[in-house]
Amino acid sequence: MILEAEGDFRLAGEAATQHLGRAIADALHPGDMVCLSGPLGAGKSTLARALVRALTTPDEDVPSPTFTLVQFYEGARLKVAHFDLYRLSSPDEAYEIGLDEALEDGAAVVEWPERLEGRLPANRLDVEISLSEDGEERRVRLTPHGTWEGRGLEFGP
Ligand SMILES: Nc1ncnc2c1ncn2[C@@H]1O[C@H](COP(=O)(O)OP(=O)(O)O)[C@@H](O)[C@H]1O
Ligand SMILES: [Mg+2]
Repeated sequence: MILEAEGDFRLAGEAATQHLGRAIADALHPGDMVCLSGPLGAGKSTLARALVRALTTPDEDVPSPTFTLVQFYEGARLKVAHFDLYRLSSPDEAYEIGLDEALEDGAAVVEWPERLEGRLPANRLDVEISLSEDGEERRVRLTPHGTWEGRGLEFGP
C-alpha cells in the first residue's frame, strides 16, 4: 500500500511507530531531513531507531544522542545522521556539529527540530506526534516540504 507522505493518522501501538519509521527510511534521499516533533514520550526516538535500523541492520545499536547531540550511521544505500537537539544551545551549534555535512552526504533524522528556530532545509518531512491527555493514544501528522511533496510512503507486505 502506497500512501502519500501527508496527512494525519493514528499510531496504534509501538509497532505502528516503528512501521512508519521503516516506511520513511525506504523513501529517503540524500539531502532529506525528517523532523520529529512531539512531547517527551511521544515516540520520536522509537521512530528514529526503526528508521536507522531499516537503513543499517535490524540489530544496529542506536543509542539516544541526548548528550552527543548526533550519531552517524553508514547505511548500505544511504548515510544517515540521527540528531537530538534538545540540549542545543543555539541554532549555529547544529551546523558546528555537522548538520550541513550530514545533509550533503546523506539524510538526517532530527528530534527537537524546534531548536533550529526555523533554519530548516527545503526538502523535509515534518512528523509531528501528539499524545492524548491520558498519554495512551498517539496521532501523527505528516507535512511534506520541497521534494517531499507528492512522495509516497510504502506500507505493508
Ligand atoms: N504508537 C505508540 N503507541 C504506544 N506506545 C508507543 C508508541 N510509540 C512509542 N511508544 C512508546 O512510548 C515510549 C516513549 O518513546 P520514545 O521513543 O522514547 O519517545 P520520545 O523520544 O518522543 O521521548 C516508549 O516506551 C515507546 O515504546
Ligand atoms: Mg527521545
